[in-house]
Amino acid sequence: MDFYNSNAENLFHKYQQVDPEKVHGSWLNHLPVKPGLALDVGGGSGRDAVWLAQKGWNVIVVEPALALRELGEKFSAGYSTIWLDDRLPDLIQLQTYRQQFVLILVSGVFMHLPYQQRVDSLDTLVELLVKNGLLIITLRKGPDTDRRELYNVDAEEIKVLAEKKFLKVEVTDILEDELKRANVTWQTVIIHNRVNE
Ligand SMILES: C[S@@+](CC[C@H](N)C(=O)[O-])C[C@H]1O[C@@H](n2cnc3c(N)ncnc32)[C@H](O)[C@@H]1O
Repeated sequence: MDFYNSNAENLFHKYQQVDPEKVHGSWLNHLPVKPGLALDVGGGSGRDAVWLAQKGWNVIVVEPALALRELGEKFSAGYSTIWLDDRLPDLIQLQTYRQQFVLILVSGVFMHLPYQQRVDSLDTLVELLVKNGLLIITLRKGPDTDRRELYNVDAEEIKVLAEKKFLKVEVTDILEDELKRANVTWQTVIIHNRVNE
């Protein structure tokens, strides 16, 4: 978490430059029309939590980096958000929220997790979803120029793991980086908590 704590102020402003409607445009057509309880894991600056709250969602935000969490919490004051100090793969504080979330957003987080933690995280996240809930995992592809410990995670790996649980999965095309960073691209895995038709 050192990288996110030491650079919290800069990162906060950087993440806030991105328009959530654009960065999440690839899966927006799946967003349930009727808002409910959402979870934003690794919520960073609070950009997406506020965006969802403005659409009527109640959002629990998990953010392990204290300095970023404090900035995000301040930014989202007045919106229906609750911030927790927790982390994947276990999300210990959410143990009582089994099958509670209609939407779980994990944006730009999975590439920080080594393989076994990604497997365990998927188990944890699926447990937290309501039946017919939506789990969105966005993956950053590109060099680790900031040396913040990044793994090269293939969207197909997540798809295979989720399909083993008989979930319905879509993978988007490769998307360009909204911050226009050299050699950085994104891909989104859209997981529906319902058995494959
Ligand atoms: C690239 S930032 C993305 C922030 C935000 N989701 C966004 O899209 O702007 C990655 C975030 O994941 C958080 N993070 C790193 N490891 C995590 C873990 N094991 N569990 C939850 N969050 C984690 C970091 O603290 C950071 O806020």
